[in-house]
Formats: sequence, structure tokens, C-alpha cells
Amino acid sequence: MIELTTAFPVCIAGTGSYLPEKILTNAELALRVDTSEEWILTRTGIRERRIAGADETTSHMATHAARRAMENAGLTADELELIIVATITPDTPTPATACYIQQNLGASRAVAFDISAACSGFLYAMKIAKRLISSGAFKNALIIGAEKLSSVTNWEDRSTCVLFGDGAGAAVLRVAAADEGAILATEMGTDGNLTHLLKIPGGGTACPITAANVNDHLFTLNMLGREVFKHAVNRMKEAAEKVIERAGLTADSIACVIPHQANLRIIDAIADRLAVPNERVFVNLHKYGNTSAAAIAIALDEASRSGAFKRGDNIVLVVFGAGLTWAAAAIRW
Ligand code: COA
Repeated sequence: MIELTTAFPVCIAGTGSYLPEKILTNAELALRVDTSEEWILTRTGIRERRIAGADETTSHMATHAARRAMENAGLTADELELIIVATITPDTPTPATACYIQQNLGASRAVAFDISAACSGFLYAMKIAKRLISSGAFKNALIIGAEKLSSVTNWEDRSTCVLFGDGAGAAVLRVAAADEGAILATEMGTDGNLTHLLKIPGGGTACPITAANVNDHLFTLNMLGREVFKHAVNRMKEAAEKVIERAGLTADSIACVIPHQANLRIIDAIADRLAVPNERVFVNLHKYGNTSAAAIAIALDEASRSGAFKRGDNIVLVVFGAGLTWAAAAIRW
């Protein structure tokens, strides 16, 4: 059943992604910190990740992903009405990274702003855009997940530096025609009691950058991995179940589950709990590591282009991240 508040059904008309060319392998990381290729692969499922160059800012990667999504959707920059960028690694604290992307695209009619919901940001953006389109306020939207996590990684901390990578993914949403698919159900949640589990402690008003603290690794990602792991599995399972039920789906009627790409063990646990066979769960984590808000967007683009599902199929997206935040979407493609 489509959410009753939907005035106009909203579909995903196109997707795109961008990955920097530079590859950082597990073997190279093992030369930098006290770890091994085998530990990283068996504990996370990651083989390599992409690292952006100096000129590859978040907006640069996002603009490339956006152009591909717009081309895929057949939407021109003139027609674009809304740009929402999910990122925790903006080009600048202000203005929003979305504004640079609007400029790059020449999408002068589009309203542009960022949201911050860590790895859940792309699906938060999807829900916001869907509501704004279904209400009639906008005809279309470009949603983007883009991150340059290499710029906020502590390259001396083996418990985090093996996990993250850079990249961007985008999708164009618009009002769906009667014979097209639609976003059937969305869900998002937050638990601010668990902010301490995963954060960048410095750089904001609580701990501004000063000459005295600049070398204290306060401006890089800190994580209590084991705790995060436990919450990730439970919250993603619950969120996915909610959208599956609201969309009137069953495990058998889902062609593809696309989960947040953080750890293969988390992905396997989710597949198990949702009773979806592994071959219907999309994984590209081994190539890119965890790219936070970009991960699900890149995975959606790769999965659709690789034929992991086709028009008319039901798919489920589910994510989890710092906040703690989580979100899910059930989509008829
Ligand atoms: N290489 C070798 N050993 C490492 C290591 C590395 N890169 N990182 C940590 N270890 C060690 C730890 O120091 C610990 O050693 P100890 O037992 O002597 O104390 C041991 O490995 C186990 O650490 P633990 O943190 O319990 O490992 P884990 O099995 O939980 O795996 C993560 C660690 C980070 C891979 C895992 O917890 C995880 O993926 N968590 C979720 C992360 C996530 O999803 N984050 C993003 C959310 S969006």
C-alpha cells in the first residue's frame, strides 16, 4: 500500500555515481598501521577503497555523479527545481555544498541545501524530496550523497582508517506517470542518546579548532565499533521491516535489498534477519569501503545499471549511521 499522504506518486527517474580513480588497498594500509590484509577482509569484507585527490572535493565528486543521474533521467539543468546534498564532509562549513553543485550544474532555478545525517543522509534526503514533490511544491529533485571521508580519517588509528573511502552517488526524483514505479514507503529514525558512539568531536562550536588542539585527532572520525555494530543490525532490521510491511511486500517479493555498505558481517546479519537470500543483497563494499552518505547512493546506481533488478521490481534500501540515525525505503522500480 502506497503511503496515504502521497498526493503525487514519486519515482526515481535516474541515478549516477562517481568514484575517484586512486585505489588504496588493504596491503598498502598494512604498511601504514598495525593491521593485516587478512584482518581487514575477514572482519569487514573490504578489499580496497577510493581516495580523492586534492582537486576532488565533495562538490566535484557530487557534480559528476549528479550529471550522470540527470543524463540517465533525461533532465536538464534548466528543469531542475531542488538539490539536496547529504554529507558530513562539506566543501566549506558554509555555504552549503549544494550551492557549489548548483553553480557547477548551472541549475539556476533550483533551491539547494545540505542535510547532515551521516550514513543515513541519502535516505533522509529521499524522504524529504519525496514529500516535497508529492505535495506539489516541486516537480523534481536531485538528491546526492557525497563524502570525502579521507579528509576526516585518522590515518594512525587502525580501528577506523581501514573502514572508510571517498565517492558520490546521486538520484533524480520526479512525479511518476501512472505506468511507472514509485517510492512506496519510507522510514527514518534517530537516537540522540548514542551520539558518543560515532563522532567527529572537534571543529564545531563544542570544540573549535585552535592552534593548541589542531594535532589531537579531534577533527577525525572516532568510533566505538563494536557498539555501533550491534545497534546497526537491530535498527536496520526494524527500519527495513517497517517499509516492507507498509509497502505490502514479503521477503519473496523483494528483488534486491541494498543495505548501507559498512561491514559485510552487518550486511549478512541483516539479510539473515530479513530472510532474504544473499544473492538478492547488493554488495560493493569490497571495492569502496564505507563512504557514509554516498554508499547507498553509489550502490543504488551500480545495482540498477548492473541489472540487479529491473523495471517493476521491488527493492528495499536500508541505512544506518552516526547520530545514531537510520532510514529505509521500499521502491517499485
Ligand atoms: N587490524 C587489526 N586488529 C584490529 C584492527 C585492525 N585494523 N582494528 C581493531 N583491531 C583489534 C582491536 O584492537 C581488538 O583487539 P583486542 O581484542 O586485543 O582489544 C580486536 O581487533 C577486536 O576489536 P573489535 O573492535 O572488537 O573488532 P570487531 O570485530 O568489532 O571489528 C569493526 C571492528 C570496526 C570492523 C566492527 O566493529 C564494525 O564494523 N563496527 C561497525 C562499524 C560501522 O558500521 N560503522 C559505521 C556505521 S555507519
